[in-house]
Amino acid sequence: MYRFNHKDLLGMDQLSVSDINMILDTADSLMEISSRDIKKVPTLRGKSIVNFFYEPSTRTKASFEMAAKRLSADTLSLSATDSSMVKGETLIDTARNLQAMNPDVIILRHSSSGAPHLLARYVDAGVINAGDGMHEHPTQALLDLFTIRKKKGRIKGLKVVIIGDIAHSRVARSDIIGLKKMGAEVTVSGPPTMIPVDAESLGVKVVFDPEKALNNKDVIMMLRIQLERQSEVLFPSLREYSIFFGLNKEIIKRAKKDVIIMHPGPINRGVEITGDLADGPFSVILDQVSNGVAIRMALLYLLIGGERGDNLD
Ligand code: CP
Repeated sequence: MYRFNHKDLLGMDQLSVSDINMILDTADSLMEISSRDIKKVPTLRGKSIVNFFYEPSTRTKASFEMAAKRLSADTLSLSATDSSMVKGETLIDTARNLQAMNPDVIILRHSSSGAPHLLARYVDAGVINAGDGMHEHPTQALLDLFTIRKKKGRIKGLKVVIIGDIAHSRVARSDIIGLKKMGAEVTVSGPPTMIPVDAESLGVKVVFDPEKALNNKDVIMMLRIQLERQSEVLFPSLREYSIFFGLNKEIIKRAKKDVIIMHPGPINRGVEITGDLADGPFSVILDQVSNGVAIRMALLYLLIGGERGDNLD
């Protein structure tokens, strides 16, 4: 019998297809809690969850906090500026001190790739990677898969294009791993300076011209230009980027008529996507945010909601 049997969620590479289906199915069954008048169930009463964010976040941090509260867990939020990291304490010493207070899960966002993996070695609590450097952002990929499945009824066989700064994007990496595992056909596009030289080794097709890359696609995923992660200028100006690589109402005609547009946020309006498309009928950007709460509820439930491996049914 299948069992969800993980202490931590560090990356999409650790999840099997059965794990992913279990997370998406569990999110489906928990989704309706968020539309109740009283948005709370006692499932994680008595459990303690630490939200530890060393980098700014709106969606992921709020979504984990809301997910934990909707399941009745106690939550504690720490950021780089209000922790003793500013006094020189190391990540591991901070983690050991948090562990001494016996939390059940630590959710970590960190600018260094691999930081959650290191933390997981030092604490008994479950560790969830909420985005580590340029490496992975697995809960974003799970909520993206969930959104695609809800909108399209399936993931297998869909044609997905990811456009933008693939090289610097932890979202792109996690999405590519998840989409490939679930049987989607993935194309990546963007300026050559933003596409990893070994991109094809990830099992994706590379089409530099976004107009050609959009051809006949079911799903468009736009990525934010991450100026904070670029050590050199990779394109001449934001204006040129938007002209050649931004999504607008003309080039979107190349995609399928029922295409959905996704973006992990935050959006640079008028750079990678025009405002009318971000707010228009093809956009599922805010559905992604709503679905993110259900996905994070599902993960917390599966990691600590009972004996590890217990299923809902
Ligand atoms: N998608 C995402 O990670 O957004 P935040 O940085 O606001 O959490």
